[in-house]
Amino acid sequence: MGKVFVSNHPLIAHKLTSIRNKDTSTKDFRALVHEVAMLMTYEVTQDLPLADTEVQTPLTLTKGKQLAGKEVVLVPILRAGLGLLEGILKMIPDAKVGHIGLYRDEKTFKPVEYYYKLPTDAAERQVILVDPMLATGGSASAAISFIKQRGVKRISLMCLIAAPEGIKVVQDAHPDVDIYAAALDECLNECAYIVPGLGDAGDRLFGTED
Ligand code: PRP
Ligand code: URA
Repeated sequence: MGKVFVSNHPLIAHKLTSIRNKDTSTKDFRALVHEVAMLMTYEVTQDLPLADTEVQTPLTLTKGKQLAGKEVVLVPILRAGLGLLEGILKMIPDAKVGHIGLYRDEKTFKPVEYYYKLPTDAAERQVILVDPMLATGGSASAAISFIKQRGVKRISLMCLIAAPEGIKVVQDAHPDVDIYAAALDECLNECAYIVPGLGDAGDRLFGTED
């Protein structure tokens, strides 16, 4: 079974409280999501393979480490996953980026796909799938299935807030995928929103709420 990592880092907890606050402006919400994405990148990359190398310091030649293999592929789920992308790229600037367009049908809560684009050599790379909200798990599960169809073997999922229901759906369908969340919330409400959550991540990021 893939691991489920839930952050207990004070900086992430502090910023997440402001992200949840309904009075946080779009500008601040975006900036905070960006910052938490940077911090979560530290966690989601903890198992990246390293290779030995040598480095000449001003004093001597010494041993060092460097990332091994091809750079990772970041795959935000549109739209809200885009809010995390720049923060992760700050930490992994050479990463390639794919995109998966999915939205939840308002009545069935099932994901509806509208766009897929991955780098051609994605199968040779580790993929980090990025979406702030893991609610029913339908969107993440569908996205992972698509990525696997392209031959990718190593996939991690990074989100801000996960619901227990979403974690179960992803783990049942994709037991090989590690899940990294900044917080684990209580449940879903009757509209399949995460409670307490942060509301609609896409609307809050892009200022499109009513
Ligand atoms: C949100 C969120 C996830 C999805 C999670 O997207 O960004 O992609 O819901 O819900 P699930 O786990 O129940 O599938 P939304 O459909 O609101 O689209 P948007 O990002 O374009 O706003
Ligand atoms: N999508 C969101 O943006 N928020 C939720 O709480 C659930 C799905």
